[in-house]
Amino acid sequence: MPQGEGRCARRLLDVTAGKINATIERETPRGRLASGKGAIHRLMNQETIRDFLECDHKRLDALLERAGREPGQIDLAAFGEFRRGLLKHIGMEEKILLPAIQQLRGGEPLPIAAKIRLEHGAIAALLVPSPRPAVLRALKAILAMHNAGEEGLSGVYAECDRIAGAEREAILDRLRQAPEVPAANHVDSDRVEASARRAISRAGFDPELLAD
Ligand SMILES: [Fe+2]
Ligand SMILES: [Fe+2]
Repeated sequence: MPQGEGRCARRLLDVTAGKINATIERETPRGRLASGKGAIHRLMNQETIRDFLECDHKRLDALLERAGREPGQIDLAAFGEFRRGLLKHIGMEEKILLPAIQQLRGGEPLPIAAKIRLEHGAIAALLVPSPRPAVLRALKAILAMHNAGEEGLSGVYAECDRIAGAEREAILDRLRQAPEVPAANHVDSDRVEASARRAISRAGFDPELLAD
C-alpha cells in the first residue's frame, strides 16, 4: 500500500477508534471517563495537517478520475462533487492554513505562498467553464504539479506542521470545520476561456493545456 494511502487508512482507523472509545465512555462507570477522553484526544492528536490535506487530495483525485473515466463523456455528478470539494480545499488553504502560518511567522508569509495562490488562481479559473475533456486534462496536469509541491516530507504541508508546533491541533480543528464554498454556475464564453488561459500562464503553466 502506498505511503499516502496508509496514512489515509490510519486516519480512518483513528476516527473509528475515537468513535469506539466514545461508546465505551458512555458505558463505563464514572471513574474511567477521564482516561477514555484522554485516549480519544491522543488518537485525534496523531493526525497532522499533512495527513488531513493529503487525504483530501486523494479523495479529490479519485473524483476527477471518475468524472473522466468514460472516454468522450463527463460524469457530471462526480465532476460537481470534485468542483465543490476543490473549492473548499482551496478555501481551507487560503483562508485558514496560510494565514495561520503567516501569523505564527510574525506576519511573514511563507515564501512559497504567492506561488501557491497563483496556482490556485489557475485551478479556480478552470472550474468556471463547463467541464470538457481538455478542462479535465488541464486540471489533472496542474493539480499533479501543484499537489506534489504541497505533499511529502519536504512539501508545504509538512513545513506547516513544523511551524504550527503546539498550534497544530487548533489549526486542524479549523480545517475540519471549514465551510462549504458556494459554487457559481458554469460560464462558457471566449472571455472565460481567455481568462483561464491567462491564469494558467501567470501560474507558469502552458496555456495550450486547455487546447481541445
Ligand atoms: Fe493548494
Ligand atoms: Fe492542497
